[in-house]
Order: sequence, then C-alpha cells, then structure tokens
Amino acid sequence: MENFNALWLEKHEGELIPRYRQTHLDELSAGDLLIKVAYSSVNFKDALASQEASGVVRHYPIIPGIDLSGTIIDPGPSEFKVGQEVIVTGYGLGVSHSGGYSEIARVPAEWVIPLPIGLGLKEAMIFGTAGLTAALSVNALEKQGLRQHKEAEILVTGASGGVGSLAIGILKSLGYHNITALSRKKEQSAAYFTELGVKAVVTAEEISPDKQRPLMKQVYNFVLDTVGGRQLETIIPQIAYDGSISLCGNAGGIAFSSTVLPYILRGVNILGIDSVNISNEHRLYIWNRLATDMMPATIQQFAKNEIVLEELPVAFQQLLAGTMTGRNLVRIAP
Ligand SMILES: NC(=O)c1ccc[n+]([C@@H]2O[C@H](COP(=O)([O-])OP(=O)(O)OC[C@H]3O[C@@H](n4cnc5c(N)ncnc54)[C@H](OP(=O)(O)O)[C@@H]3O)[C@@H](O)[C@H]2O)c1
Repeated sequence: MENFNALWLEKHEGELIPRYRQTHLDELSAGDLLIKVAYSSVNFKDALASQEASGVVRHYPIIPGIDLSGTIIDPGPSEFKVGQEVIVTGYGLGVSHSGGYSEIARVPAEWVIPLPIGLGLKEAMIFGTAGLTAALSVNALEKQGLRQHKEAEILVTGASGGVGSLAIGILKSLGYHNITALSRKKEQSAAYFTELGVKAVVTAEEISPDKQRPLMKQVYNFVLDTVGGRQLETIIPQIAYDGSISLCGNAGGIAFSSTVLPYILRGVNILGIDSVNISNEHRLYIWNRLATDMMPATIQQFAKNEIVLEELPVAFQQLLAGTMTGRNLVRIAP
C-alpha cells in the first residue's frame, strides 16, 4: 500500500513537536482491521496529548486523535465488511495506540462500532468523543430521575466547550427547556448560547456566594459537569433535594472538597462518567440514541470549524487556552 499522511507528535532534542508527514502501514500500531479515516475531531484530551507534561500519552512518537469515523478497507479476520462505515472512540486510540489523525488507521476489531443508521460519517465526528460523553452524562441523569422531570432545572458547566454545548443540544432535543449554561465566556459566546436556546447563562462568580456554606439555596435539580475542580464546591451545595450531578471532566482541575451534608441531608448523587472503557453494548446503545432521539435539530451548528490535519497544532493551542467555542471537526479523507 502507498504511503499516506498523518499528524505525529514526535520528540526532537527533548522537545515534543507536531509533524505532518508521510507514513507507512508498518508505523501504525497493531490491530485486526484497516480503516480509511474520513473524519476525526479535537477533544480536550487531544490537546492534552500534545503536552508531554499532561501524562495523557506515555510513549512518543504517536499519531494522536482519540476518535475517528471511516470506511473499512481491510477487515482482516473480523466480521466487518469492506466498505462498511464505522466509528472508533476511546480504548487506547490516540493515547497508547496510533489514532485518528491519519488517513489510514489500524485498530483491534473489538474497538469498532458500526455507524448507526441515520448518522453520517461527518455527523458522527461532530459528536465524536465529546458527543458520546455528553450523551452518557444525559443518559445517567435520566436514569437518576431526570426522565420523569421535564421541567427540571438543569445546569451545564463548561457550556461553550464540546461536551457542554453538545449536552445542551441533546437535552433540548429530548424536550428539557430549563437549562442554565455556566460559562467563563458568557459574553464572548453569547451568540452561541442564544443559538443553543438556553434559558440563562451564568458565570461561576455570579453563582458563588460571599460565604461558602455546606448547604445553600436549592437551585438546580440536575447538573451536568464537564469542568470539575474547585467550581464544584459552589455547585454541589446548590443542588436540590434528590438531585444528581454527573462528573465527566477535569478542565478546571481534579481536586475539590465537600462535606457529607448534601448527600446525607438532601440525597444528592454524584454520577461518574467514563467514555473510554464502557462496554460495547452500552456504547452501541448510546450511539443509536445519538442517531435518533438525542440528535439535535441542527447538528452542524456544533462544528464551528472544519479543519485539516496540518491545522491541528493551532487547534490544540486554542483548546488549551480556553478560547474555543464549539467543536473543531477534522476532515481527513471523506
Ligand atoms: N470522562 C470521559 O470519558 C471524558 C470524555 C470526553 C471529555 N472528557 C472531559 O470533559 C471535559 C470537556 O471536554 P471537551 O472535549 O468538551 O473540552 P473543551 O471543548 O475544551 O471544553 C471544556 C470547557 O470547559 C471550560 N473550561 C476550560 N478550562 C477551564 C478552566 N480552567 N476552568 C473552568 N472552566 C474551564 C470551558 O468552557 P467555558 O469557557 O464555557 O466555561 C471549555 O470550553 C474535559 O475535562 C475532558 O477531559 C471526559
């Protein structure tokens, strides 16, 4: 097979640099099948992978890219067929195994999900890992009582980001309307929040009391958190009786402190969300929901930029600087 193009993260004289270059199949990680990659996307974890100190990637060089959609070109011993359209997210993709920022990818067959009916290869990566994680979070909150409570007050944090904004789109498509966006970019992303149709936008400062207390006024029934860190210390005491919060992210840090009071006096639940190692059964179920009842009316609105492999280094910086609104879709070879 001819050489193909990929974006590598390579170390040169001790410095980690991104390099767009010709690549041979022998350089890809081992796997059962070959995929012609159509699209990938830029997630927070991809941006972290470009920073050695983040510890997301243990061994360089690597082709990053934690998600991809594409077409099977060689199914190997698997039951997939040549020409079948598929999605891969999570597992070791782009972290310990060559990833989606490559015209050709080779992966284990058990990582591969058939593209659900109703979803195109492009739409699949407008969702990407961010959409899968947003959907897992909404699904977990629904199981915890949200489904029976259409008028619930819902707070979504990191709301201008990939997971946050897609979560708002998914919640709207499911008929939830009382959604408050928590964002550092209340002003800069105001037009986007209007487009998304949230009820209100607040900043962390606006919802922080002068004096932090273990229990505060009960404001939100459900919270979908993508930020983590100290911001949670203000949010958790404001969750109403029997409410729940899903935690999927650490964009704002990994540590927070809490008392037991919200949990033992108000029955508040914390729901942990992982998109990397969930079972394929659950993965398929969630992707099928994304293609049906969770599909936002205008999915294109979440892809703010459509970029190519050479533009990824700039996109990583944008995400790390926190200046990005919405998602970067990466067009590889549709
Ligand atoms: N558990 C999983 O399997 C899983 C899967 C995917 C993603 N994640 C995590 O989910 C989070 C969101 O991912 P993403 O891909 O949506 O990233 P993203 O597009 O960069 O969005 C993150 C958003 O968080 C807010 N933010 C960023 N830095 C912050 C800081 N220092 N303090 C407070 N807020 C900050 C920003 O929103 P505003 O400016 O609007 O506040 C930003 O847009 C990340 O932590 C990521 O690692 C976890």
